[in-house]
This record gives sequence, structure tokens and C-alpha cells, in this order.
Amino acid sequence: MPSIRCRNWHVLFNITIIAASATYGCVAVQKIIGTGSLLVQVLRRAGSTSKLPTSVTVIDIDYPSQDTLRPAFEGQDAVLSLVPTLTTESQITFIDAAASAVIRRLFPQNTVKVQEHMLKTARATRLNYTIIYNGAWLDAGAFSFFVNFSDTTTNIHDGGNVPISISTLDTIADALVGVVDHPEETENRSAYVHDMVTMQDHLLSVAKRVNPMKEWKTQDFNPDDLTARYNVGLAKGLLNMEAFLSVYDGTYNELLRSRGKTDDDLVEILKHILLRGP
Ligand SMILES: NC(=O)c1ccc[n+]([C@@H]2O[C@H](COP(=O)([O-])OP(=O)(O)OC[C@H]3O[C@@H](n4cnc5c(N)ncnc54)[C@H](OP(=O)(O)O)[C@@H]3O)[C@@H](O)[C@H]2O)c1
Repeated sequence: MPSIRCRNWHVLFNITIIAASATYGCVAVQKIIGTGSLLVQVLRRAGSTSKLPTSVTVIDIDYPSQDTLRPAFEGQDAVLSLVPTLTTESQITFIDAAASAVIRRLFPQNTVKVQEHMLKTARATRLNYTIIYNGAWLDAGAFSFFVNFSDTTTNIHDGGNVPISISTLDTIADALVGVVDHPEETENRSAYVHDMVTMQDHLLSVAKRVNPMKEWKTQDFNPDDLTARYNVGLAKGLLNMEAFLSVYDGTYNELLRSRGKTDDDLVEILKHILLRGP
């Protein structure tokens, strides 16, 4: 267990994680604890029954309230906000509370309104940020968007042959630890990582190899339908679908420990999803 240290403006040591019980948060909190060198506290929603590792300090917070957040943030070096996408109001409050508690680094989610507020705050205060872009999750979340394991029909987006970046949760959590280890190189930056660049067609062909017995049907999907489906978020500028359906150059892969994945790795990951169930 790391001991309490005096604050050093060049080191991120006292780490607060918000939503450590989330799909992403569960993996991230284990990685951060696993460093053995960081002091971790987790903020949990008041009334939540989520289970968290016993080695972390848990503070129950009535979100979104600056009055309750500020004391929890004081003395912390970094805040990792791993909350679900459509929590814009809470995320804006995290930014304001972090700036007022003189936190050094915030890791906001990459939605449009949150980014805009983050950039404005970073220009006006000592709070700085790193936004990690990782493309689509390979082993969780909306992967069914690309390969539908639970149903017979997969919607094909943009003809299925548009390059996309994909990453496992493990890789993204490694990238978080990498940023904590390299605060100066990642200050006020978007950090791009991925396991591989692929296309939906290729993901489907690997899935067919992994499970040739399944009926794999496809249908062309109109991007306008996607916009309609995500209308609430997209139209209000809440969601950043580009972040999800984009290809990145993986410029930060090396710095942030992302070793990349091969097709053989992809086969193993898809086998695992199949065994586990979607
Ligand atoms: N690239 C991709 O493919 C992809 C896919 C999905 C998600 N994501 C990103 O990953 C992030 C996390 O998504 P996720 O699926 O891991 O989340 P999730 O599992 O839905 O997170 C749920 C947890 O978040 C906490 N929470 C919920 N509402 C909150 C609020 N208003 N304020 C504070 N905490 C709140 C709660 O934890 P407690 O009960 O413990 O407080 C809840 O149990 C999203 O922002 C999204 O941008 C990316």
C-alpha cells in the first residue's frame, strides 16, 4: 500500500476515480491499484450499491454538486472521470469542482459539450486535461454494432470497408496508467491509442471463422438511421460518434504501453466473447 506523500506538481500520485464500478471503470481501477505506487480513492453515487475493491477509499457523493465534490477533490492530483456518456451535467460539475479544488489533471470523457467546457477551463485555470481516444471497444459496450453475436443480422455501416480503430478495455486502462506515468508529455492533449485498425468486414470474417455454425446475415445500414437512433445525443451535441467510428494513427501507442494486437489475438478475443456471451 503506497504511503501518503507531499504534493509534487510534477507527479500524479493521489488519484480519484469516478465510476470505478463501470464497465471501463472496473478494469481501470484494477490497473491503477496494480501499479502499487498510487493512492486511490473512488467516488460513488450516494445510494449506489456498487461493489468496489476493498483496498480503495470510497466516498459516497450526491452528484452533481460542487459543494460535495470540492472537499473530496482537495489534495488530489488527478481525477479520472469514467462515467457513462450521457452524464454531461455531472461531468461539467466535475470540471468546475476540480478547477476550484486546484486538481492538476482531469481525464474527461470525449463528448462535445464536456470537451468544450474542459478546454475553456484549462485556458482559464491551472487544471489541465488528457482525453484518451481509443476508438470502439473491442470486448464490451457497443461491439455488437460491428459484429452481432446475439442476433442473426449485423448492420453494415458505410459498406463495411471503412477503417476503424478498436481497442480492448485492458488496452485503454493501460493507456490511463501510461498517462498518469507521463503527465508532462500528455498535458492538455488528446492521446490516441488503439489495438488495431480494421474494418467491419474483416471483424465479421474473423467472427465467421470463430463460429462457422452461426447464421451470419448482414444488412446495409443507412447512416441517416444511425443519426436518427442517436438523435437525442447527436443533435444536442452530446455524443461524439466520430470518436467511436474513427481511425487514429495510434501516435501515443508506444508512450502509453499499447502493444497492439494481431489477427490471432482478435480470434482469441472473439472466442472469449462467444463463450462469455454478448
Ligand atoms: N469507445 C467505445 O466503444 C465505448 C463504449 C461504451 C462506453 N464508452 C465510454 O466509456 C465511458 C464509460 O462507459 P461505461 O459503459 O463503462 O459506463 P457504465 O458501465 O454505464 O457506468 C455505470 C456506473 O457509472 C456511475 N454513474 C452513473 N451515472 C453517474 C453520474 N451521473 N455521475 C457519476 N457517476 C455515475 C455509477 O457508478 P457508482 O454506482 O459506483 O457510482 C454506475 O454504476 C463512457 O463515457 C463512454 O464515453 C466508450
